[in-house]
Amino acid sequence: MSKPPTLNFKPVVPTLLGEQAFVYIAKANELKRRGFDVISFGVGQPDIPTFDHIREAAKRALDEKFTGYTETPGILELREAIAEYLNSRYGSDVKPSEVIVTPGGKGAVFLAISSYLSPGDEVIVPEPSYPAYPEVARFIGAVPKYVPLKWLGPREGFALDIEGIEESITPRTKIIVINNPHNPSGALFPPKQVDEVMSIAREHGIAVLADEIYDNFIYDSADFKSFMTFEDWRDYVLYVNGFSKTFSMTGWRLGYLVIREDVASRLTKLAVNVWSCPTSFAQKGGVAALKGSWEPVKEMVKVFKQRRDLMAERLREVPGFEVWPSRGAFYMFPRVRRVLDEAGLSVEEFVEKILYSKYVVTLPGTAFPKEAGRDFIRLSFATSLKDIDVGIRRLKEGVEELLGRGRGNGL
Ligand SMILES: Cc1ncc(COP(=O)(O)O)c(C=O)c1O
Repeated sequence: MSKPPTLNFKPVVPTLLGEQAFVYIAKANELKRRGFDVISFGVGQPDIPTFDHIREAAKRALDEKFTGYTETPGILELREAIAEYLNSRYGSDVKPSEVIVTPGGKGAVFLAISSYLSPGDEVIVPEPSYPAYPEVARFIGAVPKYVPLKWLGPREGFALDIEGIEESITPRTKIIVINNPHNPSGALFPPKQVDEVMSIAREHGIAVLADEIYDNFIYDSADFKSFMTFEDWRDYVLYVNGFSKTFSMTGWRLGYLVIREDVASRLTKLAVNVWSCPTSFAQKGGVAALKGSWEPVKEMVKVFKQRRDLMAERLREVPGFEVWPSRGAFYMFPRVRRVLDEAGLSVEEFVEKILYSKYVVTLPGTAFPKEAGRDFIRLSFATSLKDIDVGIRRLKEGVEELLGRGRGNGL
């Protein structure tokens, strides 16, 4: 009998990078399953469950059998709530017809990148960077142009390289990505830099993908300027935000894109062909999140500030670490170059050694997504004070062992 023909499957999708955080979650889970006491600073989500009133609203929606398809850009009630929220917070004039609710902030990033890039076009991505922007661009056949952030040292931390951004512009540049507050560095870019990016966008006719998903995680100062505060946002801004971080709703998959109306209606056609609509009952949870009490959010951010402070204090005790206490999001991004040089390790090797010798999960800076992160590691402080205390002490022990304690290495 002749053999049945085999499927000659040649994927046309380019080989994309995955998200390293998910790889390390899998490794940590494997260690946990084998009985090790793993402490994870890897994952980018608050450690508390979604607040009660939001869960109740979604349960009520299920009980009321609100389980079918909804409008593709999301139910009007939710789009109105999003517009009202942004307008009252940022003084903007967003209309519900300019909001598309998406499966997570990532869905909004996907739509935003798809809206303006064609094969061969360029997108400027400050690096290190959340990996979804360059990867979705590559999926479309567009080209990410990386511009490293400026590392100003352990006091000032990171800033955008405005001249570098301007110098990278070519006739094919269509989008500049600005994620503020910033994952993974924890930077909060000053209002002056936000103004400068907007001026560049106006001068060159380029869109700004403003991902402000961490805009409620701001510590020390209220010095945050949203791209939604510009009167002419419609001409330049592709605005991404979502519920995952602010309301601890990562598993609900609920985010949104704000974009001018004619583009929104085109993108709605893309959305209906890819996901039809966001999850019905999750959207009711989203309404409750925006319209209900914000006290739990404020409480959470207060707790996160204590965690940030403790993590900074403990990390400063680790030999060879240069520690910059982040101002936004929930990540610390210490510079570990001196340790890497002394121990003769790459940052990936360092992270693996700490994982398998001390059972502490950190992420290599190169996961975001390449060279600019090679001197850094990322730690999420969305975890308990106790875990921060114990975990960073273990990390310190690991570093001391790698450096050869007592050798007087001077770090
Ligand atoms: C900068 C940034 N944008 C977007 C997202 C995506 O969020 P979501 O889980 O809602 O898709 C994340 C998640 O880590 C993020 O860090």
